[in-house]
Order: sequence, then structure tokens, then C-alpha cells
Amino acid sequence: MAASRLTRDVKLAAERLRAGGVVAFPTETVYGLGADAMNVAAVQRVFAIKGRPADHPLIVHVHDAGEIDRWAREIPAEARTLAARCWPGPLTLILKRQPRVPDVVTGGQDSVGLRVPAHPLARELLAAFGGGLAAPSANRYGRVSATRAAHIESELGEAVDLILDGGDCPVGIESTIVSFVNGRAEILRLGSLAPSTIEQILGHAVPVIAGEHASVRVSGRHAAHYAPATPAELVPAEALWPAVRHELDAGRRVAVLHTSVAPEAARAATLIRLPADAAGYGQALYTSLRLADDARVDRLLIEAPPATDAWLAIRDRLARATVGSGG
Ligand code: TXA
Ligand code: MG
Repeated sequence: MAASRLTRDVKLAAERLRAGGVVAFPTETVYGLGADAMNVAAVQRVFAIKGRPADHPLIVHVHDAGEIDRWAREIPAEARTLAARCWPGPLTLILKRQPRVPDVVTGGQDSVGLRVPAHPLARELLAAFGGGLAAPSANRYGRVSATRAAHIESELGEAVDLILDGGDCPVGIESTIVSFVNGRAEILRLGSLAPSTIEQILGHAVPVIAGEHASVRVSGRHAAHYAPATPAELVPAEALWPAVRHELDAGRRVAVLHTSVAPEAARAATLIRLPADAAGYGQALYTSLRLADDARVDRLLIEAPPATDAWLAIRDRLARATVGSGG
């Protein structure tokens, strides 16, 4: 059997990156699949390992906000304000790029995504490496992000040179993406930094542009992203347990992601209970979706969370996880 690729050795991970390797590393949101952003061949390997289309740009992770001028140009004052207030943290800024940034990182666009992650191991790794790390989430294209080192081992296996093991990601939902490419702040992806926080910092409303890939050249739409393999359906809280009962009565194997107490009659289902607060739920969501897949059931029923601001990003991911599988 091949040796495990898991390590806690940051120096070793930085060496691998300098040698053109691909190293998975923890961030506070989800694990990233990193390569030296200036090494075209290394970044190409990231695309190959993920099975990701070549025109989907990658986020460049840097150690601190002072580095953004090396990657981006014509940076608006509001972008600098957000960087100063939210970094290190779950915010990605899309800015006009410096010409030196390789096309393979930006998908050939005139923009670049930048983020300063807050996870201590990511920060140590960036400090030891000394450059920018181009890194998408460490999962196969279209699947849910990895929030635990073992997820990466089982999904991407030996294609990855090293996995820096930081335990479970504390946030569990990807960063919020704010683009300044159209001359004003626009949210391209809902994430763990709330739109209301961004609006408070900037002092005005910030539009949420529907669709993560709205301003990116891609073939077709990719609503069915962040998806479990099991057909999944979002069910209003009050209809959940009757729906589970219905599935069981029809002889189907069913898993349930829920926050409310399960009635006795639902015991035959695979019950995966999540915390009832948005932060706890977000942290556990992707692990729970993977658990549901591992249970090899016919259907996954998900209790719809409250329609309040705190749940925006989670509701976005659940909507994507259930695209095309309802009914
Ligand atoms: O929390 C996160 O953001 C995690 C951690 C690892 O940092 N990363 C992550 O990367 O979720 P990824 O590649 O799975 O999602 C990043 C999104 C992609 O949809 C990509 O299209 C978009 O960011 N993006 C990156 N650069 C862009 C650019 N220049 N213009 C528009 N969108 C961009
Ligand atoms: Mg991703």
C-alpha cells in the first residue's frame, strides 16, 4: 500500500511547492489544492487533478494584504478598505491583474482573484513558501469542497503530492467573492463573510450578481455545483418527517440532514443531525453531505434552513446540491 500523504510538516510542504509540487492545505473555509501561482506546469497539474475546465480561474492565496499590488493593478479604494478590514479571512477580491500573472491562473481573463487566508497552518505555509499559491477547493470538479484531510485522500488520492493536515476546517463554507472588475463592488459568490458585513464596511448596498461564474467566460452554467452524488431534495421543515416516512414506506433507503428532533418512526433512515445555528451547521455541512453519500442510500432529504441572513450562503449551497434531483 502507498504511504499516506498526510503531514503536519509545513517546511516539507513549502519545499514541495517550490519544487513544482501540488500540496493540499487547510484554510479556515475549506481545504485548497495549492501550487506555485507563477509555475505554469504546476498550476496545470492542479487543473488535471481536479478535472476542472481550463477557463475556470483560480484564487491566488497570499500571506498579507501588502502583497496585492504585486498581483493586481488599479485597485479601488473600496477594495483596499475591504482587504484591510477582512483579511486574513474568508473574503476573495477579484481585481484587474498584473500582466505577470500567468494566464493559466486567471483563465486568460484580465482579472485575478486574491485572498489572505486566516488558518494558522495556511499562514505558516505561505510564510515559509514566500510566494502566491494558486488554489481551488481540494475536491473533484463539481463535487462538495473538502473540509477534512481524509476527504482529499479518498477523493484525489495519490495525484496530490502532500496533504497538510490541519484537522477540520473551522468555517466549512467557501469565501465570499467580491469583484471590482466592473468598477463597483459586486458579490459573485455568497460565502461565509455576510453581505451585510461588507455593506456595513463600505457604507452602501452591494449587489449580489446571481451565479458564481456570471462574469467568467465559461461554456454553459454550473448551477449544479457543490453536489453530493446521492439525489438530494430540500424539504420545508414542517414537511420533513412525513416525507421521510413516505420514502421509507415506499421501500427506499433514505438519509436525512436535519436539525429538528427525529421522531421514532424515522429511525429506519440514516439520520445526520446538524447544529441548529448557522455557524455550526456550515462547519458540518460538507462532511455531512459526504456521510450521506457514504451511506449509499437512494435519496437524501434535507430540512430547509430558516430564510434569514445568517443562512444565506448555506441556502445557496443547498440549492446547488439539490439542482436537478428534486421531484
Ligand atoms: O474559500 C475559498 O474560496 C476556497 C479556499 C481554498 O480559499 N477556495 C475556493 O476556490 O473555493 P474555488 O476555485 O473552488 O472557487 C473559487 C471561485 C471559482 O468559481 C472561480 O471561478 C472564481 O472563484 N474566480 C477565481 N478567480 C476569478 C476571477 N479572476 N474572476 C472571476 N472569478 C474568479
Ligand atoms: Mg470549488
